[in-house]
Amino acid sequence: MTGLAVPGLAELRDLAAGVAREAGELLASRAGRVEVAATKSSPTDVVTEMDRGAEELIRARLLAARPDDAILGEEAGETGDADGAPVRWVVDPLDGTVNYLYGLYDWAVSIAAEVAGEIVAGAVYVPSRGELFSAARGGGAWLESESGEAPSAPVRLHCRQGVPLGQALVGTGFGYRVARRKIQGEVVAALLPQVRDIRRAGVASVDLCAVAAGRLDGFYERGLNYWDWAAGALVATESGARVGGLHGAPVSTSMTVAAGPGLFGPLSDALAALNPERDA
Ligand code: IPD
Ligand code: CA
Ligand code: CA
Repeated sequence: MTGLAVPGLAELRDLAAGVAREAGELLASRAGRVEVAATKSSPTDVVTEMDRGAEELIRARLLAARPDDAILGEEAGETGDADGAPVRWVVDPLDGTVNYLYGLYDWAVSIAAEVAGEIVAGAVYVPSRGELFSAARGGGAWLESESGEAPSAPVRLHCRQGVPLGQALVGTGFGYRVARRKIQGEVVAALLPQVRDIRRAGVASVDLCAVAAGRLDGFYERGLNYWDWAAGALVATESGARVGGLHGAPVSTSMTVAAGPGLFGPLSDALAALNPERDA
């Protein structure tokens, strides 16, 4: 990526935010009123025409603004020259598709900008709440809430600090494949007596933003794809949370853990003791 101008991070965040809002508005016009178009990794891993339509819109808007960039999107895969482009966008056009299909509350559009292999800016838009979470690396995590027509002034987010494991409200999620789910069920059953309670919202990007906003103390999930966590992990990190894997590993598809600095160690130790990656 040398020789190509790296854009301002705030500019990338604002582009992600504007495009996420537009795609979210398109999706909101059909929430709870769509059919399954196809299945992916398992019969319960569904995609709708709206997932595809939202990704098409996002791709068109990003490339109109920045024609030389590469895009990794959940529905259409990798396009552009990921190694040569100044920015690679990592896009989940509709995170929480099952919630969307059933007319449940939380689902989101997640868009992140990666430069030289690092996520540097991102936005997660939650239309049902009128909430836009965003971050640029080093610039904090922010929440804008719409009231009526106008977005409110952005509020800086700070994750909760110093929550002991036994008092922690912990979000998690489950993959779509049966073999993995069996182990995920065993792990969550063993963790439940060690924490305040468990939540399963069905939308990983929003779970990570919930850690940033102090609505969850921690979150973990095995098997998330890059597009599920790319933007939300930056929002969580910029709120002061630690985001990583187990045994000191970085965040990855194998394991995503996010929590305030005092909780991250005890939570990741408790998870590691349950060997949640044993279905590898
Ligand atoms: C899913 C959601 C869910 C998580 C799954 C993801 P999708 O994304 O984020 O909360 O538990 O692992 O695949 O399929 O709705 O985009
Ligand atoms: Ca997703
Ligand atoms: Ca999705």
